[in-house]
Amino acid sequence: MALEGSIQANSVRAYFSKIASRYDLANHLLSGGIDALWRLRAAQRVAEWAPSSILDLATGSGDLARTLQRACPKALLVGADFCEPMLQVARGKRLHNLVVADALELPFADHSFEVLTVAFGLRNMASWTGALAEMHRVLSPGGHLLVLDFGMPKGPLLELYRFYLHHVLPFLATLLTGERSAYDYLADSIETFPNGEAMCARLSDAGYREPCYEPLLGGIAALYTATRP
Ligand SMILES: C[S@@+](CC[C@H](N)C(=O)[O-])C[C@H]1O[C@@H](n2cnc3c(N)ncnc32)[C@H](O)[C@@H]1O
Repeated sequence: MALEGSIQANSVRAYFSKIASRYDLANHLLSGGIDALWRLRAAQRVAEWAPSSILDLATGSGDLARTLQRACPKALLVGADFCEPMLQVARGKRLHNLVVADALELPFADHSFEVLTVAFGLRNMASWTGALAEMHRVLSPGGHLLVLDFGMPKGPLLELYRFYLHHVLPFLATLLTGERSAYDYLADSIETFPNGEAMCARLSDAGYREPCYEPLLGGIAALYTATRP
């Protein structure tokens, strides 16, 4: 399979295995807690769809899944991730229905879920096209996709943010996790990930309808939604 992302799946799994126990701490400190607000916003959007089933893909340490569980208490919520050490952290948050699975080959039947969410995960997948196709397969007709991920801001903030991303963040993250390579990779992956309209075009090409996005914090992150016909 042609790699569209900047890295191989085995390396991604190895990075997250190494930082799993400190992933949440690093996230909250490095974002100043804003990541929690972004997940809350994502969960609010999902709650508006009132789904009866949700797959949180690349669920990792389960922070989005836990926020979704609170926002949609009646929905069947399943979390899937291909990194067992990250799922171990999620299990400590009273999340059930956690499945070790690769997003490119999901162990679910066609049309299994009304909503599929993926936060800070699609960017890390070896094939964005392959992953979006697999998400399309497991979503039910009329189902909703929500992607939350980092982007690059436009205008005067761009160079400042670039400096933070490539120099400040890896330095601080190394102090917190002892793992520099994972955060060098993070910066590179954010630079190459399709942003805004480019991501919406990818969603259209993958067969989703009405793709749209909401920039968060000047475009440092964005929330994408689309519907599966
Ligand atoms: C940055 S973490 C995001 C975790 C969580 N969604 C959050 O919001 O904090 C990215 C997660 O994507 C997972 N991941 C990356 N590629 C994957 C794939 N192909 N299949 C399943 N999980 C994948 C990693 O194991 C990791 O747990």
